Amino acid sequence: MRAVDIIIKKRDGQELSREEIRFFIAGFTDGSITDYQAAAWAMAVLLNGMSAAETTELTLAMAESGETLDLSGVVDLALDKHSTGGVGDKTTLVVEPVLAACGCRVGKMSGRGLGFSGGTLDKLESIPGYRNDLSREEFLKQLKDVGLVLTGQTGDLAPADGKLYALRDVTGTVDSLPLIASSIMSKKIAAGAQRIVLDVKVGLGAFMTSLEAARALAETMVAIAGRAGRKAVALLSDMNQPLGYAVGNALEVKEALDTLRGGGPADFREHCLEVAAHLLILAEVESDLPAARQRAATTLEDGSALERFRVLVQAQGGDVSYVDDPDKLPKAPLIEEVPAPQSGYLSTIHAREIGESAVELGAGRAKKGDPIDHSVGFVVHHKVGDQVEQGQPLFTVHANDPAKLQAAVARVLAAHHWSDRPVEPLPLFYGTVE
Ligand code: URA
Repeated sequence: MRAVDIIIKKRDGQELSREEIRFFIAGFTDGSITDYQAAAWAMAVLLNGMSAAETTELTLAMAESGETLDLSGVVDLALDKHSTGGVGDKTTLVVEPVLAACGCRVGKMSGRGLGFSGGTLDKLESIPGYRNDLSREEFLKQLKDVGLVLTGQTGDLAPADGKLYALRDVTGTVDSLPLIASSIMSKKIAAGAQRIVLDVKVGLGAFMTSLEAARALAETMVAIAGRAGRKAVALLSDMNQPLGYAVGNALEVKEALDTLRGGGPADFREHCLEVAAHLLILAEVESDLPAARQRAATTLEDGSALERFRVLVQAQGGDVSYVDDPDKLPKAPLIEEVPAPQSGYLSTIHAREIGESAVELGAGRAKKGDPIDHSVGFVVHHKVGDQVEQGQPLFTVHANDPAKLQAAVARVLAAHHWSDRPVEPLPLFYGTVE
């Protein structure tokens, strides 16, 4: 078999066999197939697509390209959640302790920010000392002893995806449904997940901007899970405006802590309860959604989810005094509240613009490995549909540099669009794919 023949076959729109996909991914992983061949192949996939069978084979080949984790013996059912990426999405920080407080053992490997979308690891590192680099042995021991782990990817899981993702990022081949679906699912399968909730974001601040594309991605990932002997449910959730109010690492940790204390923004709390409820059903802890939501909500009200988060931070070396007193979290030197320039109803709060502006403030990276500033970001004060009077606080910028602050004020003001007429609030969810 030759790599070039496989590229030509895909270029000509033909279906690749299991053997061809396995050969290509194995060769790419061990370096015998070059980056330029993989890039040409990825472009052929982007232009011509893949059948369901090809997408599944690609996922499994990437999942098996390195180590895989077997959690049987440590947990009864390995649970996982994955968000396709959004702005202000701090859901994992709340959902994982809620599940633990409901009696589930949860070990999750999270990622860093990608472009304008934030990452759980970056947020957690706002807490001094918090370790995101647990070894495989530490991961398994903590899962067994503490019942809750939240760390970066351990060991050499799905290395083919790591290599291919880096190539796609710089060759215009990110936006491909089979490549996104196989990238996400290969990591979940390699990490040993048996029951998965996929939070598929749709809207201005998501990879999938149309509901049709988000639904197709959700259906593909749920089908792959089934073919791989796993069970997944996908929630199609709104990402037109930021989730909650806070965007930026420490600001989001603070908002997650408010929510774990029984407060927090209504939309974010609702979102977390829905995700947690679906996980409780997949975990067979509850059998209907209203009961599962109630059980999850109770852990926010009675402090048990907060207590689990505290135990998690302590287990991973973080300073728990930051959990007890969130005002200690990193603070930006420049904080400016921006008033509404006019009266009216908010018709758009453009999530992607706000996410990109947060990256410019230093909350995210321009390139891999760049340092980030945990203190910077935004707190938006409203939701689409709100009626706002001129002069009322519209959003607050947290910055470390006066020029960046001015640029952020202008960009985020322009991200707020107005209407003279009442505007319907945005839904939180657009549907579920089972
Ligand atoms: N997240 C991933 O892990 N991979 C993609 O391709 C897109 C989002």
